[in-house]
Amino acid sequence: MSPKILVTRHVYPEAITLLSEHGDVDYNDSSNGLTSDRLVDAVADKHAIVSQLTDFIDARVMDSAAELRVIANVAVGFDNIDVQAATERGILVTNTPGVLTDTTADLAFALMMAAARRIPEAERFLRAGCWRQWEIDLFSGHDIHHHTLGVLGLGRIGRGMVRRARGFDMRVVYHDAIRAAAEDERELGVEFVDKETLFRESDFVSIHVPLNEQTRHYVGQAEFSLMKPTAVLVNTSRGPVVDEHALAEALAQGRIASAGLDVFENEPTVSPALLELDNVVLIPHIASASVKTRTRMCMMAAENAVAVMSGQRAPNPINPEVLDQR
Ligand code: DGY
Repeated sequence: MSPKILVTRHVYPEAITLLSEHGDVDYNDSSNGLTSDRLVDAVADKHAIVSQLTDFIDARVMDSAAELRVIANVAVGFDNIDVQAATERGILVTNTPGVLTDTTADLAFALMMAAARRIPEAERFLRAGCWRQWEIDLFSGHDIHHHTLGVLGLGRIGRGMVRRARGFDMRVVYHDAIRAAAEDERELGVEFVDKETLFRESDFVSIHVPLNEQTRHYVGQAEFSLMKPTAVLVNTSRGPVVDEHALAEALAQGRIASAGLDVFENEPTVSPALLELDNVVLIPHIASASVKTRTRMCMMAAENAVAVMSGQRAPNPINPEVLDQR
């Protein structure tokens, strides 16, 4: 019997081609995902799900899929999946690490520059026909070069950010729950500091931690009160890592200079308080959105699903302990 695969949303077509060679694909070729009830119905006879970060896959979904063996998420993050519930049910969860590192770091750096140099604000001004003359302080922002970048989370993307910062002669400090090896610190040219020091000393703080119970609202009022009034916050990780209400307040009151946000607490809703502010650059969760990277992410998820269905070791397991149970 051919394995049955659910693809919950539109993906790059190469992934469908690959999946179709290995099973019967039930493809919801739409940018609108399935409601929770439709998802529960759709998974009933499936062996594999190719999901996206906007699909919430919890124990209820898993319990309606007696044959389910793998959930292949098209993302490096997997906070949309109850991994513990999957492990308890012997379901493998996979993600797409590595392939999006540089694309995401590029965008994080671009957001940092856009926020520091006020590019979107200046563009809005020009397009609105408000530009009358060159002025000495027209859209003066903050320099990036030779300033201090604080990287919160020195994983793959955090390290990508560090490498870009070196080209701008920045001093880089970092904080992470696990300190990097001395050799890595030397190679990257970074200095480990505690969280308070990072917020106090950085001109730019870029967040690269995963979302979990320890990092929900990891950055909030207490951290903003430590930051310099000229500092810029960049978030390309997950929205709930930052207390959005506290951030809007800090920006409105000028406690920090500006922010660049790719992710939000309640996507796709953006808090009205942020929308009203000029000193924040807001983009719709597109950090990994280059055609090449997103195509590769879809292919990696498909390859993970195919590996499991073919009885091979999936390349990117989140809960490899499931493989030992098999
Ligand atoms: C991820 O992969 O987790 C990003 O948020 C989307 O690329």
